[in-house]
Amino acid sequence: MKVVSTEFIKSALEPSQYPDGAFPEIAFAGRSNVGKSSLINAITQRKNLARTSSTPGCTQFINFFRVNKQISFVDLPGYGFAKVPVAIRKNWKPMVETYLKERKVLRLVILILDIRRDPSDEEFAFLHWLRIYNISVLVVLTKIDKLSRSQTAVRRRRIKEVLDLPTDTVLFSARTGEGKAVVWRLIREVLDREPSLPPISKV
Ligand code: GTP
Ligand code: MG
Repeated sequence: MKVVSTEFIKSALEPSQYPDGAFPEIAFAGRSNVGKSSLINAITQRKNLARTSSTPGCTQFINFFRVNKQISFVDLPGYGFAKVPVAIRKNWKPMVETYLKERKVLRLVILILDIRRDPSDEEFAFLHWLRIYNISVLVVLTKIDKLSRSQTAVRRRRIKEVLDLPTDTVLFSARTGEGKAVVWRLIREVLDREPSLPPISKV
C-alpha cells in the first residue's frame, strides 16, 4: 500500500487516554527489542515514526499512529525484558491486556518474533490469550537478514510447528525491507472484511 501520510497521535497508559476509536486499528506486539518499532517504520517508509532503540524497553507506553488518515497503528510496549525496572514491567501486562480486551476498533494483532529465537512462555501465553478473546493474529518473523536462506526455512518451519499455527508466518526484515508487501497485503485483507471502510489503494 502506498503510504501518503503518517501522524503520531498520542501515547496512553489506560483507556481514558486512548484516542477516539474512529479508525480500524492494527496493533504490533512482541517481546522487547524484537523490532516492533522498526517494523512500523519500515512498512510506513518513515525513519522515525515509531521510536527505535538498541536499549530494550524503549517503548513503554501504548503509542497510537494514523496512516493515510484511514488506519490506526498501535505500537505496544514489549514484554519480557528483565533489565527494565520492575515497576514498569509490572504495569506492562495489565496495560497491554486492557488495551487488547477493550479496544473495540482493534482488527488485527501482528505478533513479531525474532526468527532466531524459539518462542517462550510469554508468546504461548499471549497467543492463548488472543484466542480466548477471539482476536485475529498474524505472526511475523523478523531479522531474517541475520540468517541464510536455508536457516530461515528451517527456523520458519520450527516456529510454526512449536506454536501450532494454522497459517504460515510472514518472513520480514526491517533492514532489507523484505516482507513489507506481504504484511500490507494481509493487513488489507483484514481491513477489507469491514464493509463500512472507505477504499484504500492497493499494494
Ligand atoms: P522495544 O520498544 O524496546 O520493545 O523494542 P522494539 O521491539 O520496538 O524494537 P526496535 O524496533 O526498537 O529494534 C530493536 C533493535 O533491533 C534495534 O537495534 C534495531 O535496529 C534492530 N532491528 C529491528 N529490526 C531488525 C531487522 O529486521 N534486522 C536487523 N538486523 N535488526 C533489526
Ligand atoms: Mg519499540
